[in-house]
Amino acid sequence: MTESYEIIDHSYDVVVVGAGGAGLRATFGLAEAGLKTACITKVFPTRSHTVAAQGGVSAALGNMGPDDWRWHMYDTVKGSDWLGDQDSIEYMVREAVPAIVELEHYGVPFSRTEDGKIYQRPFGGMTTKFGEGPAAQRTCAAADRTGHAMLHTLYQQAIKHNAEFYIEYFAIDLIMDDEGTCRGVLAWNLDDGTLHRFAAKQVVLATGGYGRVFFSATSAHTCTGDGGGMVLRAGLPLQDSEFVQFHPTGIYGAGCLITEGVRGEGGYLTNSEGERFMERYAPSAKDLASRDVVSRSMTIEIREGRGVGANKDHIHLHLEHLPPEVIHERLPGIAETAKIFAGVDVTKEPIPVLPTCHYNMGGIQTNYHGEVVTLKDGDPNSIVPGLMAAGEAACVSVHGANRLGSNSLLDLVVFGRSVALRCAETVDPNAKTRPLDKDAGEQSIARLDRLRHAKGSTPTAELRARMQNTMQNNCAVFRTGEVLDEGVKKMQEVWQGLDDIRVSDRSMVWNSDLVETLEFENLIGNAMVTIVGAANRTESRGAHAREDYPDRNDDEWMKHTLAWCDDKGAVKLDYRPVTMKPMSNDVQAFPPKARVY
Ligand code: FUM
Repeated sequence: MTESYEIIDHSYDVVVVGAGGAGLRATFGLAEAGLKTACITKVFPTRSHTVAAQGGVSAALGNMGPDDWRWHMYDTVKGSDWLGDQDSIEYMVREAVPAIVELEHYGVPFSRTEDGKIYQRPFGGMTTKFGEGPAAQRTCAAADRTGHAMLHTLYQQAIKHNAEFYIEYFAIDLIMDDEGTCRGVLAWNLDDGTLHRFAAKQVVLATGGYGRVFFSATSAHTCTGDGGGMVLRAGLPLQDSEFVQFHPTGIYGAGCLITEGVRGEGGYLTNSEGERFMERYAPSAKDLASRDVVSRSMTIEIREGRGVGANKDHIHLHLEHLPPEVIHERLPGIAETAKIFAGVDVTKEPIPVLPTCHYNMGGIQTNYHGEVVTLKDGDPNSIVPGLMAAGEAACVSVHGANRLGSNSLLDLVVFGRSVALRCAETVDPNAKTRPLDKDAGEQSIARLDRLRHAKGSTPTAELRARMQNTMQNNCAVFRTGEVLDEGVKKMQEVWQGLDDIRVSDRSMVWNSDLVETLEFENLIGNAMVTIVGAANRTESRGAHAREDYPDRNDDEWMKHTLAWCDDKGAVKLDYRPVTMKPMSNDVQAFPPKARVY
């Protein structure tokens, strides 16, 4: 029988779950629009993973040379390997310019050019003249701590607009009604053990990615796909989860990010022969090809015996040739990170690096207003009433099969803002929020209770390690049907292990054992749809590189995967066509062509 818990009820116009860039941008925009807004977050807002973003945020400002949002649109469509939806991409790149100006006015301390404009550096896959011109300098930077600068500014704006925060509250589940409308969310106050039911006209999931399904990831340990887990348990699908980005330059062994901005400022990669091998793989863009291309090239060099180090298992990233003042002014953070995590003085020696899980292109399916959509009665864009999503948790889809560096911070602010704009149009602050039914959230409380008292023989950490090793070995940079199928079998065994899970701490106050178990349930749902989707997609596109199907196959696979996962770990798949038509009638669509850099 479920133990009785102290439950406290709340009522809001809008509840945002997550206080990273997308969550905070949505939160203060909603509060600014006069909507009664709560933001629930499991960590203190300025500790959200956005704080770790380094290199910058893209926008065709043209501060360092000619640029145009249409070129940015072309680069993003090409970067996505033609899986991105062109209406959403147009929306994002057009809104980029006012969104960055707005951030500057809010107080983000961007680095500056000599004449006082926002400093912009080159990033991978960003070009001019629809790929025909030189590299674009499009990535607006605050040294190499852009995410930190943005997150603090957005939090200050949220405080200024009197948004209400529920800090160190863990969101357990969505509260859905029988008609499939989202009515609110159930959360646990980690500090005093009470449970909280939030009734809302809209719930916005801005919970970030799920990088921690992999053993080695640049993501914080808090990136556990909580929003995706909640959505799967609510019987809704995730989209395109098989597309996982590996960042070329995670520090070997530690996994910490070394920004692409290093290569943007002139850094380069070498193999054991001292060769700048990217010249062979991407003759034009070289070290600034898109991330999937660079990560694959590094992996091939290592596989073919040209890796560096005693085990020939990593690659060198050089910036010792850069003037010390450039490192001091533009890259101070990574100099410190390299010293701490690799023992390297970047002015004298190269940094040992390896492709490391960095970003989830897939996630909760939304339109460009941030409304969650699903396949219903044959319509793949049917709106789920009461539910929205933004940021890495969402799949709009602007990144398609591969995201370009610095389009992530952009995605956060543009779509966090679009959620607020949509709610300002659709949510009536004067209407009463429908109270929750008496038994709302009962099943989720029973799930919490079952896990809290789980007396099996396998600690959560052991199951999580099995999942992370399986995903790392069976679903990484290069994939084959055989290895993926083996991975699916192993993941099913990990799922069965849930029946034997053991939680040792029974308390409700700061029970990190129970938090990690709830997070593990979220992670494993995301992992399952990722690996099953990867085994199912028999082509190579963007970050999904199948050695047994090396070519992109537009005839059969230019479509989004939708994946549902039930409580036994069984995955059901369906599809949605890619939107090729831009948002505006007068904007040119980019038809698919071969993707070379
Ligand atoms: O390399 C970086 O600074 C990461 C940026 C991004 O993922 O957008």
